[in-house]
Amino acid sequence: MRFDPWNPEFVAHPYDVYDELRRERPVSFFEPTGQWLIARHADVNALLRDRRLGRSYLHVATHQEFGKPGDPEFQDPFWRVIRAGMLDVEPPVHTRLRRLVSKAFTPRMVEALRPKVARIAGELVDAFVERGGGDLISEVAEPLPVTVIAEMLGVPEADRHLLRPWSADICGMYELNPSVEAQHTAVRAAEEFSDYLIGLARSRRANPGDDLISALALVAEEGDKLTEEELVGTCVLLLNAGHEATVNVTGNGWWSLFRNPAELDRLRADHGLLPTAVEEMMRWDTPLQMFERWVLEDISVGGFDIPRGTEVALLFGSANRDPEVFADPDRLDVGRVDNPHISFGAGIHFCLGAPLARIELIESFGALLRRAPKLELAAEPVWGSGYVIRGLESIQVRV
Ligand code: HEM
Repeated sequence: MRFDPWNPEFVAHPYDVYDELRRERPVSFFEPTGQWLIARHADVNALLRDRRLGRSYLHVATHQEFGKPGDPEFQDPFWRVIRAGMLDVEPPVHTRLRRLVSKAFTPRMVEALRPKVARIAGELVDAFVERGGGDLISEVAEPLPVTVIAEMLGVPEADRHLLRPWSADICGMYELNPSVEAQHTAVRAAEEFSDYLIGLARSRRANPGDDLISALALVAEEGDKLTEEELVGTCVLLLNAGHEATVNVTGNGWWSLFRNPAELDRLRADHGLLPTAVEEMMRWDTPLQMFERWVLEDISVGGFDIPRGTEVALLFGSANRDPEVFADPDRLDVGRVDNPHISFGAGIHFCLGAPLARIELIESFGALLRRAPKLELAAEPVWGSGYVIRGLESIQVRV
């Protein structure tokens, strides 16, 4: 098999192909997307921190200067929302936007949320156990992070069911060469989500609560630190990034444990291993397989000259199995201590929500281990179609 992100077999198990890439072609040109694939941990890590690359080029050049056709006009509403969030901008705008919300996500701030996260996880798991099991994704993995981030931002309970479909549709645009239909679906979702948040922010500005949307709406009112468009972009980003990957780590993580029963037994016997186990599950079956960067100045990687105007695809899933960095990398080891995995990224865009994600994962795995000590797989799980954002569609289990 070759690197083929549109082939379900490759998506289900990309790791042998990664092995070959790391050994034989650690830097290689991938014709179908016109990107350079970067397979080794050292290169992925270095490029994420290299300011000669960026998530966007629009702060230093126009589409024309980069020889790109630009986005089709129908996508305008999508990019207006997405490029108003910190993930798709570079300094100085990135620095300003990240500073505005980073206070809410420091390890100390999110540690204070732990009892609440534990309570929500406990309630979800209790109900799940009472039913005798079911689909772990839709009944536990999804509702936990969605509830937590929605509560932080102050999205009313009655509207929360809207978040997951909007987010999933928006994420469709991030897959490699998305279909025209997926592009239209993403644009529509971005428009609806944006309209919804504008309404919510305006009502909070008039009537503030103790939540992040109110806080940002008040900052936006002052005018110079945050525009209304940036407020919406920030909230869309937080609500999407705040649950997508966490859902996938939960599903992929349980599936990893079921495939490695000795490690599951080890974790069952010692819940104190949860912090290292969560990091290891994020490494062993990486939820976000690939991130892209634009080359803003000519660079050289592994002996290849990569010119300005090119895109590199950083293969996180491959970096996380690199034997140069991880001892016995294909082994799932829930007690692995030396684990510099790249799943939260690196450099200025390093995941803002990492401390929160860690708490959510430890509390959700912990609640299931305690209250369903004999949890077992009821059917072979099925991978979703995404490669970049890679997770199981469902995972049926019995308690
Ligand atoms: C296990 C779960 C998670 C994983 C694996 C993950 C992974 C990542 C990665 C890899 C990036 C950087 C992307 C890049 O450099 O191109 C990122 C950025 C980000 N993540 Fe997460 N994330 C997770 C959970 C969360 C949560 C719970 C939040 C909650 C708010 C969050 C918010 C963000 C934000 C705001 C950014 C953009 C940071 C910036 O551009 O400066 N993430 N995440």
